[in-house]
Amino acid sequence: MKGIILYMSKYGSTKRYAEWLAEETGFDCAETNKAEFEDVKKYDVIVLGGGVYASGISRLSFFKKYYEELKDKKLIVFCAGASPYDEEAFRKLREHNLTGKLAGIPCFYCRGAWDMEKMTVMDRGLCRMLQKAVAKKDPETLEVWEKALLEAGTERHDWTDRSYLAPILEEIRKTGSD
Ligand SMILES: Cc1cc2nc3c(=O)[nH]c(=O)nc-3n(C[C@H](O)[C@H](O)[C@H](O)COP(=O)(O)O)c2cc1C
Repeated sequence: MKGIILYMSKYGSTKRYAEWLAEETGFDCAETNKAEFEDVKKYDVIVLGGGVYASGISRLSFFKKYYEELKDKKLIVFCAGASPYDEEAFRKLREHNLTGKLAGIPCFYCRGAWDMEKMTVMDRGLCRMLQKAVAKKDPETLEVWEKALLEAGTERHDWTDRSYLAPILEEIRKTGSD
């Protein structure tokens, strides 16, 4: 079974998870933007990881674009966000991102990191704006990601942890025994 892990990571946590996964599985690993479809289609298992930015999983478009040609392979998605894991919030995130033909693809959550100093000027501005807007809301009504945004503040956090990979590795192992 040949596999590849593709990732899109602006600030490094999705990349870290992709590299850990590659270590655990022996699969190849590449940036989604640099991967050639002709190479990717040679693999039996394709794991696509993306950071979560404004509720969107980045570069899922790779699976959308090539779905017809990849649909008989084992496809897996994982994403890294700053919010703590919450079943209901993750269900909504999946529904929002894995639409149409992608809906059946298994998707997993890994908690990433938060460092406003590292962000681009645009991203920092956007996050500051969101924090200000959320701070004005009634705390009782906040969504999980809104609470996380406020709690993260301007401090640096790193929640990356290899244990988030366990269900992804389990899903890959299942494929091997199918
Ligand atoms: C502009 C921007 C928007 C973000 N939006 C979300 C979000 O909607 N939900 C979330 O959980 N995390 C959000 N985050 C936090 C990132 O998902 C988190 O930092 C993650 O670790 C990024 O992955 P990366 O390090 O691979 O880039 C956002 C970060 C930025 C910079």
